Amino acid sequence: MSSTLAETKAEPITAPGGCRPLRREDVTELATLFNRVFLECAEQPSAAFCAYFERVFFTDPWRSLDVSPSWVYETADGVIGGFFGAHPRRLLFEGRPITAVAVGQYMVDPCLRGRGIARQLAQKMVDGPQVITFTTSATEVSSKILRSLGFWHPRFEGMKWYRRFRRSRAAGLLGRWERSIRGSSSRTVEYGDVTCRPIGDADELHALREQHQTHFSLCSDFDLEHARWTWDLLEDAPAGRRLAGCVISSGDDGASAWVVYHVSPGGTVRIHEFACRPGRAREFLPAFDRYAAGCGAQEIIGHCADPEITAAVLENGADVKDVFSGWAVHSKDRAVQSAILNGQVFWSGLDGEAWLSFRGR
Ligand SMILES: CC(C)(COP(=O)(O)OP(=O)(O)OC[C@H]1O[C@@H](n2cnc3c(N)ncnc32)[C@H](O)[C@@H]1OP(=O)(O)O)[C@@H](O)C(=O)NCCC(=O)NCCS
Repeated sequence: MSSTLAETKAEPITAPGGCRPLRREDVTELATLFNRVFLECAEQPSAAFCAYFERVFFTDPWRSLDVSPSWVYETADGVIGGFFGAHPRRLLFEGRPITAVAVGQYMVDPCLRGRGIARQLAQKMVDGPQVITFTTSATEVSSKILRSLGFWHPRFEGMKWYRRFRRSRAAGLLGRWERSIRGSSSRTVEYGDVTCRPIGDADELHALREQHQTHFSLCSDFDLEHARWTWDLLEDAPAGRRLAGCVISSGDDGASAWVVYHVSPGGTVRIHEFACRPGRAREFLPAFDRYAAGCGAQEIIGHCADPEITAAVLENGADVKDVFSGWAVHSKDRAVQSAILNGQVFWSGLDGEAWLSFRGR
């Protein structure tokens, strides 16, 4: 492996480098760069962290889709000084399969900033053959760069909802929570006609998605293999976070809504996917609230991507905050642009990349 910029930064960069696709042998150097950029730490990355990087970028079942690769910026001295990660996605537009790339892990070595490297990396990315390039984790700075290349923020961008519960019996309830998400015995709860129970595994999540009749123009086109791969990565969350899922149904309707989320040891529920049969959110949302609170949740955080669910959570007492939550989209296809601008999109957090957990390994 070549030396890192940390070791060579006293030396001037003698000649400009260039962008090239990510290679498997880059992983350790890339993980080191990640530590320097995001954790401001000069330590060598752990083997677990390098393995996670490799798994995310080189075992994705959709890695052979015809989309842009991940790009690294390599200096003339052969050192990796920048990166923009690509996560291939399959979507359906008006029932027709299209490709997309969820982009993230955007980083340039502090020694090399302000030279246009990030813009070059992003330009390479949007020049790819995919129909949509999007991120769910832009920052103020990176979104400025992306906007200069034609990205825009979808109209729900920034709006998050927060539902807080009173702090009561937290410790005891959290203990129950841990058991309910780990144990094989399912915690099924009935609230009147509405039943909530855990999602068993990726296969069940996939079956739920297949049953879900969406009326949106643009939606995900998940398959079982990808659902399993995603679920395994979600389960492998550091810092005590646990993956959980809940199926909500009523009467003989069958499954009518589901929620996939992580819960932190402190009881914060972060929703990655919330899907609901049209017209039923008002009925099912309060049941999920009670279910989560009964499992020890102190707070639920969701994203206002679905107008019907957003209306229901507001009615149900959630607060909405305009925080920069990082969605930015690029597409050269006018019909796709129009669908996104008009909110004709069923996109969950799992379509994006922010649920990946590079930190804390
Ligand atoms: C964001 C980041 C990748 C930008 O890298 P970079 O190579 O320095 O960016 P560029 O040189 O290509 O700059 C492109 C444009 O952004 C502007 N820009 C870059 N950094 C900026 C900053 N900190 N504040 C304001 N503008 C900034 C530049 O001025 C330039 O605009 P201009 O052409 O109008 O002058 C880099 O700062 C970084 O790694 N940040 C930490 C990680 C991060 O936050 N990543 C994004 C979220 S995943």
